[in-house]
Amino acid sequence: MRLRRLVLLLFVLTTILMVIVQCTQIQSSDPRGAAYAGSATCVKCHQDISSNYAHNAHFKTSKDLLADSGTVKNEKYLDTLDLPVSEFVFNAGTKVGIERRQGALYQVAYVNGREVKAERTEVVFGSGRRAFTFGFWYGDQMMQMPLNYLTKAHQWANSPGFPDDQIYFGRPIIARCLECHSSYIEQKATPVNKFNEEEQFVKGSMISGIDCERCHGPAAEHVEFHLENPEEKRPSHMIKYKDLPLSRRLDMCGLCHSGTEVQANGSKFAFQPGDTLNHIPQFNTFNGGEPDVHGNQMQLLKASPCFIIGKADCISCHDIHDDKPKSVALYSNKCMTCHQGDNHPKLKGVEQALIKQNCIDCHMPEKNSNVIGFQKSNSKDKIPYQLRTHRIAIYKDLVK
Ligand code: HEC
Ligand code: HEC
Ligand code: HEC
Ligand code: HEC
Ligand code: HEC
Ligand code: HEC
Ligand code: HEC
Repeated sequence: MRLRRLVLLLFVLTTILMVIVQCTQIQSSDPRGAAYAGSATCVKCHQDISSNYAHNAHFKTSKDLLADSGTVKNEKYLDTLDLPVSEFVFNAGTKVGIERRQGALYQVAYVNGREVKAERTEVVFGSGRRAFTFGFWYGDQMMQMPLNYLTKAHQWANSPGFPDDQIYFGRPIIARCLECHSSYIEQKATPVNKFNEEEQFVKGSMISGIDCERCHGPAAEHVEFHLENPEEKRPSHMIKYKDLPLSRRLDMCGLCHSGTEVQANGSKFAFQPGDTLNHIPQFNTFNGGEPDVHGNQMQLLKASPCFIIGKADCISCHDIHDDKPKSVALYSNKCMTCHQGDNHPKLKGVEQALIKQNCIDCHMPEKNSNVIGFQKSNSKDKIPYQLRTHRIAIYKDLVK
């Protein structure tokens, strides 16, 4: 009798324990851990921001097409990108076809008319403002496809830095790309003395795009508090960006906008608002020369009087949750919060009214990146990668 009761009690206890474990597992379903709530939970109370943000370049800057299964789940996403089927010619005997096969998009290598390799598009990088880069899985390594797609030029191009006379499927996409272009990916333990090239990931662990908590930090406590206290209108358990000192505000963006020549030792995924970049070992600031326009917005702004004297930070001009970039006229309004814009007495032949509509082309001109360019099909020519310089200055050569 006693024994049966004991067995029954034990059974009941284990069942309760299992239920508890499962419940907590559901709560911490975010791969980053229980401190994170996930962007889907923000919608309830921050509806406008969330619906705008769904179209934001940060949010769309990467997509794991294989999310939660081995088949192309998000092929609908691929369809929205409007990528034409085409071919890219390296030389008479060597070309890459961009082909649709069973709903998926493949890059197929042909040598002398014979198919030698075909890889399926499984990860997309870029929101498509300028370009897309594509990835595929090779075991637990993420590899880069030979071809990029340029959205402004509407053409396929050989990926920057790839050989210009042969098809290359051999470059791994390393954690560093993902640290700037996604919210999280779990890395497999790698032996200490191996190079980045050996980096391996846990498939399915990637959180695509830059989500709310990538910028604002873990927010589960914030969500929990406000769900329990719906009458409280002041934010709780949340770092306030506007209360941070200027350098910390800049670092929050500089984490990903200070270029590729800066080194981070350790994962950038752990960075939270209020942290400084110096807290990450070896995350040095820029060390000489004119920073390239690609990715160096923070250094370039720091070299401008608007920052040095005016203390302009990134959000002086950028509305961070916007669904699309603003027109130059709207950006010019941001300039005029500090400048009148009517201080151009020496500018001959330029209508004053027009001056006020476009400060940008004269003071933040587009410049070619010196570090990347894209090779055209059937040619050794490069299509330049053009970006706005954030060194806001007087460019005399632009005015006759
Ligand atoms: C149950 C409601 C609720 C949910 C869910 C919620 N928040 Fe909030 N949040 C609030 C309230 C209330 C405020 C204060 C009023 C405001 O700024 O809208 C706030 C303010 C904020 C602020 C502004 C802080 C500042 O600078 O003043 C941020 C950032 C924020 N929330 C981020 C998030 C993120 C990220 C999520 C999702 C992970 C989220 N919130 C989910 C209720 C919520
Ligand atoms: C790229 C970084 C970044 C991402 C991603 C981001 N935010 Fe913000 N957020 C900011 C910055 C910077 C501010 C302060 C700017 C300001 O107040 O104008 C801010 C301010 C806020 C505020 C308070 C001010 C306001 O406009 O009401 C809320 C609430 C907020 N964010 C919620 C969210 C939610 C929800 C998401 C995801 C849908 C999100 N943020 C994604 C950077 C980000
Ligand atoms: C986790 C990395 C990361 C952080 C943090 C980050 N960015 Fe970005 N940002 C990116 C990437 C990657 C892109 C390129 C997006 C794309 O694919 O078009 C980008 C693009 C942009 C763009 C161009 C978007 C467009 O609409 O064309 C602006 C402006 C920008 N970021 C400003 C900011 C500001 C301001 C902050 C700080 C509040 C910030 N970013 C924080 C990674 C980041
Ligand atoms: C230090 C952060 C950082 C790293 C590392 C990084 N990127 Fe970027 N990437 C950016 C930023 C910021 C932009 C947009 C603005 C610019 O080009 O300055 C961008 C732009 C892009 C774009 C064009 C996006 C668009 O919509 O026009 C693609 C594609 C891209 N990166 C892919 C990659 C790949 C692949 C890697 C790894 C080999 C990588 N990036 C490494 C920050 C980074
Ligand atoms: C937060 C305030 C602020 C904002 C926003 C701002 N500036 Fe400035 N800017 C300043 C200050 C302060 C100076 C230095 C004093 C001066 O020359 O008026 C300056 C200097 C300049 C100069 C002179 C540069 C030189 O080398 O002498 C130019 C040109 C300029 N700004 C253009 C712009 C443009 C264009 C925008 C918008 C894209 C802009 N500023 C946005 C505050 C700002
Ligand atoms: C004085 C105004 C101003 C400030 C301050 C500013 N930006 Fe910009 N930014 C602009 C303008 C104007 C553009 C061009 C938008 C366009 O052409 O659509 C731009 C474009 C960008 C782009 C897209 C680059 C491209 O050419 O497509 C990125 C990324 C960016 N800004 C990041 C930042 C970051 C990060 C900071 C802070 C370190 C910052 N910006 C500060 C005005 C500013
Ligand atoms: C057609 C090109 C052009 C346009 C448009 C333009 N600027 Fe300028 N700006 C210049 C040149 C050139 C100078 C050098 C001084 C001169 O020759 O008058 C200058 C000088 C400046 C200066 C520093 C001189 C001073 O008086 O302090 C500021 C600040 C400035 N511009 C801001 C702006 C703002 C803000 C806008 C938009 C409202 C704007 N500019 C539109 C070309 C332009």
